[in-house]
Order: sequence, then C-alpha cells, then structure tokens
Amino acid sequence: MLNKLNVEGLDVKGKRVLVRCDFNVPLNEKLEITDDTRITGAMPTIKYLADNGAKVILCSHMGKPKGNPVPELSLAPVAKSISKKLGKEVVFAPDDTVVGDNAKKAVSEMADGDVVLLENTRYRAEETKNVDAFSEELALLADLFVNDAFGTAHRAHCSNVGVTKYVKPAAAGYLIEKEIQFLGNAVNAPVRPLVAVLGGSKVSSKISVIENLLKKVDKLIIGGGMAYTFFAAQGKTTGTSLLEPDYIEYAKKMLEEAGDKIVLPVDTVVAEKFDNDAPSKVVEGNIPDGFMGLDIGPKSIELFKSVLKDAKTVVWNGPMGVFEMPNFANGTNEIAAMLAELDAKTIIGGGDSVAAVNQAGLGDKMSHISTGGGASMEFLEGKDLPGIVALTDAE
Ligand code: 3PG
Repeated sequence: MLNKLNVEGLDVKGKRVLVRCDFNVPLNEKLEITDDTRITGAMPTIKYLADNGAKVILCSHMGKPKGNPVPELSLAPVAKSISKKLGKEVVFAPDDTVVGDNAKKAVSEMADGDVVLLENTRYRAEETKNVDAFSEELALLADLFVNDAFGTAHRAHCSNVGVTKYVKPAAAGYLIEKEIQFLGNAVNAPVRPLVAVLGGSKVSSKISVIENLLKKVDKLIIGGGMAYTFFAAQGKTTGTSLLEPDYIEYAKKMLEEAGDKIVLPVDTVVAEKFDNDAPSKVVEGNIPDGFMGLDIGPKSIELFKSVLKDAKTVVWNGPMGVFEMPNFANGTNEIAAMLAELDAKTIIGGGDSVAAVNQAGLGDKMSHISTGGGASMEFLEGKDLPGIVALTDAE
C-alpha cells in the first residue's frame, strides 16, 4: 500500500500541474523511439489530468547529457509519441535551460486540458545534484506536482525530489501506485509460495537483493552468470565462466544460511568462446577448463520449472544466460514461457528480464512488467525510494 496522496486527491481543474515522468526511452540513430513502454505507462495519469481540466506540464530526463543541451537527447520525439497516444497535440517547449522563455511562453498560453512537454531536465547540471535554485525554477511553473516517474524514484534529483519543497501538495501518479502495489505486495504480502528468480551477470550487484529476498521468499532460484560464483562456492570448477572470486566466500555463507531455499542450476550449456556460433555442449556439475557457461542446461530448466509450478507469486530479475545470443537464449526463454503459463502473480522486475520477456513476445502474459530498472532493484533490496518518500502523505 502506498500511503501517499494520489492524483485523484488533487483538485486539478484549471491548475498548472507539473508531472514528472520517466521518459528515458531508447532511441535509434534516426532518433525514433524503439521501446515506448514507459510512455504508455505514464498515459493514464496524463489522460486523467487532461480530461479533468488541468494544464498538464510534463517533464523528464533522458540519458546522461551531464548538464549540456545534447540535441540527440532532446525529448522532442517523446512529445510526438504522447500526441499520438493522447489524440491531441502536445506542445513541446524546446529550451536549453528547460524553464527558460520558451517554456514560460508555452505554459502561459495553455488552456485547461492542454499538455506541454518541457525539455530534458538533465540539460541542467543542477538537476542531478538536486540544487534548490533549479527545483524552485521548476516549481514556479506550476500550482501542483505529480510524480509518476517510478523508473527514477531511486534518484533524489530536482525534478522529482527537490521540487516538492516548493510546490505542494505532491501526489503520486497511477504508474507509481501500480508499481508499488505489484512490487510491494509481491515482497511484503505475497500469496505463497513466493519464488524469486535472479539472474544476470554479477553477484556483487545483487547482494542486497539476495539478502532482502532470502528473508521473504520460499525459494530463490539463481541462474545466469552470477550462478558460477555460487558453483565455485560449492567447490565446482567454473572454467572460463564469469566469476567474482571476491564473492565466493559470501556465496558460501549464503548457501550455508539459506540451505535448500537457494536453487542453483545443475547443468550448464558451455562453449569455448563468447560467440553465438561457437560450438556448444551441455555439462553437469564441473565446467571443464577452457569452457565458459553461457546458459542453463535442460536439467536445470526442468528443476527450475518444478520449483515454479506451484508458485503463486513470482518475481523475476535477470536472464538465465546470454539471451541476446539466440543459441544461448533457451534457458531464459523457457523460464519466460513457464511464467506466462503459471496461475500466479508474475512480476518482471526491470532491466534485462523485461527485454527478455518482450523478446519472447510474452510481455502481455505477465501480471506486471516494471518500468524501473535501478528503481525496482532498490525496491527489492528493501530500500526507501526518495522520489516516493518526498510525496505528500495520504490523510
Ligand atoms: C533508468 O533508466 O533506470 C531511469 O530512467 C534512471 O536513469 P539513470 O540511471 O540515468 O538515473
């Protein structure tokens, strides 16, 4: 439960409402948006505000322009995309200082129900340093503030945290509410059994997630590159696989403490080169010299499926192998297919696992796909997210 004021708790008619979204979306060389999930995710809040007669002023960062007006990181393509989804023109305010004359003019000309999009907030160096002056400049454009940028909620920047000092109240949008509802229920009030599936390359980047999840889950499946450090902790050889020697002792301790709560792969697809076309074979137990693990093997897939089949809640973060290479994507695809069929709440926690699920065409079969990469990780670590803490408490 999010105990914060929500957008429906605001009286928005005729008011200028600044809405922080996460429009940090991928673009190709032609500056076309290649994945608009985050824009789609923000639409319910934008539509609600426009339909209820607010003057909707949208803002977001994109990429890391580091305080410079980098043209390739302009939000102009996002304005076009929102216009299409909304069925009415969104006025883009190109402004190197984000809140300069163009922005002020665009806002002053707004009628109720209009939507304006400001330029990339990271064109200003102050943004990521949460400098008061820029927060105040943003706030001066608006009467009310709504944060719907779940993907940025782990950052404390001017446009999501600093601004709440100067424009009150500050409410949560529908996307933030939905993310917290799914991720929060999954880890804090799950329908059990709760199974977490963790993958990806590094143990070191997931230590806090592992520790927090171990306290909550019934089973923790570990696959992907990070499994090899656990193999080493079990005394297995790992060949030339990804390995974090500094974390072997940690992995040993985790295995001792968690007992059979942690489920590891029992076989591995290995090759001599990190190459889709490298000849591969399946090995059980030890990974031989000169070979690297690139995917989980068929027995691991069966083992993981047998753990997942009775789950009522599943949280998945990180692929099971090098899913970008078709010959090593089988483990990841099989887990995605299994989750798609489960009669369970399935929550895909950001980053590569989202890409994997979408690559397999199974996105709409999952209960929830998080729009947060780093933010959903930090949430799963049990951390408070500053972008959410800063919002006005619900009465
Ligand atoms: C993300 O893509 O995870 C968010 O938009 C945050 O971006 P950042 O990591 O550049 O702060």
